[in-house]
Amino acid sequence: MYRQSIEDPEAFWGHAAEEIFWEKRWNKVLGNSSGPYYRWFEGGVLNTCHNCLDLHVERGKGEHTALIYDSPVTSTIQKFSYRELRDLVAMCAGGLVQHGVKKGDRVVIYMPMIPETVIAMLACARIGAIHSVVFGGFAARELAARIRDAHPTMIISASCGIEISRVIPYKPLLDEAITLSGTGPVQCVICQRPHAQATLIEGRDISWDTLMDAQPVPCVPCKATDPLYILYTSGTTGIPKGVVRDNGGHLVALTWSMRYIYGMKPGEVFWAASDVGWVVGHSYIVYAPLAYGCTTILYEGKSVGTPDPGAFWRVIAEHGVDVLFTAPTAFRAIKREDPEGVYIKKYDLSRFRMLFLAGERCDPDTLHWAENRLSVPVIDHWWQTETGWAIGANTAGLGLLPVKAGSCTKPVPGYDVHVLDDHGEELAPSQSGTIAIKLPLPPGCLTTLWNNDHDFYKTYLSEYPGYYLTGDAGFIDREGYLWIMGRTDDIINTAGHRLSTGAMEEVLASHPDVAECAVTGVADEVKGEIPVGFVVLKAGVHRDPSRIEQELILMVRERIGPIASFKLALVVRRLPKTRSGKILRGTIKKIADGAEYRVPATIDDPAILDEIKQSLAIRGYAKQQNK
Ligand code: COA
Ligand code: AMP
Repeated sequence: MYRQSIEDPEAFWGHAAEEIFWEKRWNKVLGNSSGPYYRWFEGGVLNTCHNCLDLHVERGKGEHTALIYDSPVTSTIQKFSYRELRDLVAMCAGGLVQHGVKKGDRVVIYMPMIPETVIAMLACARIGAIHSVVFGGFAARELAARIRDAHPTMIISASCGIEISRVIPYKPLLDEAITLSGTGPVQCVICQRPHAQATLIEGRDISWDTLMDAQPVPCVPCKATDPLYILYTSGTTGIPKGVVRDNGGHLVALTWSMRYIYGMKPGEVFWAASDVGWVVGHSYIVYAPLAYGCTTILYEGKSVGTPDPGAFWRVIAEHGVDVLFTAPTAFRAIKREDPEGVYIKKYDLSRFRMLFLAGERCDPDTLHWAENRLSVPVIDHWWQTETGWAIGANTAGLGLLPVKAGSCTKPVPGYDVHVLDDHGEELAPSQSGTIAIKLPLPPGCLTTLWNNDHDFYKTYLSEYPGYYLTGDAGFIDREGYLWIMGRTDDIINTAGHRLSTGAMEEVLASHPDVAECAVTGVADEVKGEIPVGFVVLKAGVHRDPSRIEQELILMVRERIGPIASFKLALVVRRLPKTRSGKILRGTIKKIADGAEYRVPATIDDPAILDEIKQSLAIRGYAKQQNK
């Protein structure tokens, strides 16, 4: 299958596309009339929401459970059949239309993990509006940047999110974001949760109930190439990139992946323990399991720190979960709380057959711990917001290959993965380099960046002509296994969340006492990696460094959000630089990683490297370091 997908992608994906419902078949499986901007299934017409809901009802599966909302933080479990979900979505879509949302309009969704979020996403898909879900842990400024770029006709939000036992009001953040965005008034829909009542602004805000007081509307035909959604992700600067996903290719790839990557059968229960604000949530809480006719779980809670330390096992046992997908960080947190797996034994996990991990590199210890405690295959697979589904995986539906801990097994059909050196030359097996994917990317991957073809080309396609640059480094071993070792840019992964250190540097640099700064990642036992800032104070500033650190931590929390997990800002005398004044970020990163590093010949003050090392050691982040 892999060979066919690379040698004859049109035949391969044309065949896969037969699995979904088209109102009109495509003219061409793969069009590249616009240069490097490939388009899948040109001429095809379909509706994603129809495939996810109506089709199952029409085929007699209306009473099957589509969605289970399980919220330990509100002590709620609510089930929706395919028929119930379709009816709610059709009503919500009617409400959107009634309030002026048209095909192609953008709708920003800034919501916690509640059923209304899924309903709103599918309602947009139903009428061809383009949703842009913003993760609830982002601060007002980040939300503002997304509003500014997407220019929505409507924003759907909620009165609050719940972080274990903390109630986080969303409305003040939303109001501030709208002001900061400078885009002028935009209609807002607020879902009032019992834990906090938001004050609605007359003439601008309506309640969720008012939106839902509408006549249901049918699905609107969409072109395969029409955008389904925009999902903003961290780039190398403070400006997030709006990844654009289409309708046709996306649905074909996700449906294919349910069978061949995850080894699922329609009717089974799939649980992606992530958040709808991330790509994992888009693809595997909402679109893929529903399109494939599975039951999906929307879990509002954490892997640990909920009232029940066996929270994950309770959900698996109670809802008969067949396959779980989450980030390694969730398992590191569980391992720390329950190293012997005592809570695992308390639940009947007999139906549970596989665990998939992604979002960050999975350390072999965590992988083995999960294998031993759960006695099921544990599969590390690699993907990105940009691709929307896995690039490298052990494809369960095609028969599992032997696991090599630390590797994400092999490239998935559709992805022609190469390891290149700085000149774009192919590297020999086991040699590390830049990981690039030969064009065309398979269906489901980003088609461009919102309103920004230029940056799409520049960021991903220009460096190695004919290839998509993943931003990851690693190697392919002699047996063809893929090893993803880290990013080549300034993006870090904290608890499976993708963050830009550049964005954090912009915040730190705006502090009045800071002359210059550098942010990098440092290893963390649970979150994999957390950001650490090194700051140099302006001459003449003699304030207590710990006060300044607290201010910087607060600034990052307020401007980027708590999700940045920014808790370390170390004041240093100066930053290591070349004699020409360039900050040696690579060397700082190596020190933070405890990796081998050479003192660069061009460094202006070698002693500063020891100072950086010591400042990390004092805070408990010392690692064995060699020169
Ligand atoms: N709204 C507001 N705040 C949020 C939020 C949201 N939706 N989500 C997270 N936050 C806050 C948290 O409360 C925390 O704040 P704090 O610094 O005041 O404690 C901060 O953002 C960092 O959150 P997180 O990285 O999730 O850390 P945590 O310590 O709260 O939980 C885990 C750690 C591992 C238990 C948790 O991340 C988890 O269960 N992850 C599951 C896997 C996952 O979500 N993967 C995503 C990609 S697949
Ligand atoms: P995101 O876009 O948030 O999904 O983050 C994508 C990035 O996370 C990738 O480019 C990788 O750097 C990292 N990543 C995701 N999955 C894995 C994995 N299985 N192994 C190593 N790194 C991963």
